[in-house]
Amino acid sequence: MKIAPVKKISGELTVPGDKSISHRAIMLGSIAKGDTEIDGFLESADCLSTAACFARMGIKIEKGDKAVTVRGRGLHGLKAPDTILDCGNSGTTVRLLSGLLAPQNFDTTLTGDASIQKRPMKRIMDPLAEMGAKIQSINENGCAPLKICGGPLTGIRYVSPVASAQVKSAVLLAGLYADGATSVTEPSLSRNHTELMLSQFGGSVTSDGLTAKVLPANELYGQHICVPGDISSAAYFIAAALLLPHSEVLIQNVGVNKTRAGILEVCRQMGAVIEVSNASKEAGDPRADLFIRSASLKGITVGGPIIPTLIDELPMIAAMACFAEGTTVIRDAAELRVKESNRIAVMVNSLRAMGADIEETEDGMRICGGRPLHGVCLDTHKDHRIAMTLAVTALAAEGETELLDADCVRISYPGFYEDLARLTV
Ligand code: S3P
Repeated sequence: MKIAPVKKISGELTVPGDKSISHRAIMLGSIAKGDTEIDGFLESADCLSTAACFARMGIKIEKGDKAVTVRGRGLHGLKAPDTILDCGNSGTTVRLLSGLLAPQNFDTTLTGDASIQKRPMKRIMDPLAEMGAKIQSINENGCAPLKICGGPLTGIRYVSPVASAQVKSAVLLAGLYADGATSVTEPSLSRNHTELMLSQFGGSVTSDGLTAKVLPANELYGQHICVPGDISSAAYFIAAALLLPHSEVLIQNVGVNKTRAGILEVCRQMGAVIEVSNASKEAGDPRADLFIRSASLKGITVGGPIIPTLIDELPMIAAMACFAEGTTVIRDAAELRVKESNRIAVMVNSLRAMGADIEETEDGMRICGGRPLHGVCLDTHKDHRIAMTLAVTALAAEGETELLDADCVRISYPGFYEDLARLTV
């Protein structure tokens, strides 16, 4: 994919449905009694991996004109799959499914693509083992493929060393089937979509500060879910509007849950004005329209408890920092090293190749803004967020950029380049 710089972006846009919420809607819909209708389901490779896994376990998932319907079979209605479950590129699928499958009365094996087979799974294997789960990393390297021997579980109080919604959710989902209460305490608050949606489905969940607690469920009930636009997808258009002079973009119906919306706060700290309107809430998860116009940005420090609320947006923030005045420091973000790619190394190398003054640190990076960036040939490492970040960066650079494996955007945003092209002038 070749990307030439553009003068500005302008117009209105609705980004595709939230990836985290779409995964969870399929999962909870499958183990609920009755139908779950999902409006705005994200039809991207990752969420389709989740849907395919449940289809393999006997769940009918039907695509209608407007919504996706999941014909739930109740808490104990999943059937043993007759093959290994392929989670593709999706960490959310492997980790949340591990929690959900550990307490079933059948065995399963989960695997995925080359990237998934390198990502750390001990973080879910450890707490689930504490609950009594039998999960084995087949290659004994703490990664997928994972062999799960289903069996009864005991509730635990887990203090997680990492702020991760995937870890929290895996343990809470296992807790639905455990023989007592299960709680997870995290070092700082990660996205809470699992807690909110479990409550909507009739689960008994409470959140108190950094602790989420679930009671064993008797039954969950099918719901109507309205998935908002994904703020992680919106982030690329927010950044493009901020970076390209004279831009004005309205992004409608974006999920602005506080545990996800750290990017808005960071943009404001960097000097942006983002207008929020039409705010509403569905089942506890807020959404709103965002209006963004270009701004002169200044460097800031991003670290501490805000990190989990913008973890997937950090590559874009790093690129924005190259265009800001002054120094930006990103710290407490070592988690970026174990995402779909090592996002610290990949972003530092890519932005440096474009001419940025950027330095890698153990848990983040340091960027001195203000040097002009120029187009080069860049490897996305098949990481969708790296691809979208570099595509937007390329719009604001000088000369043409070439992106290798640019089609990996299908993981979370299949129509990304088309939407971007529609708004560019
Ligand atoms: C996700 C949680 C985050 C995020 C990922 C989706 C989720 O991962 O990076 O894209 O849906 O729970 P961690 O929980 O590993 O931080």
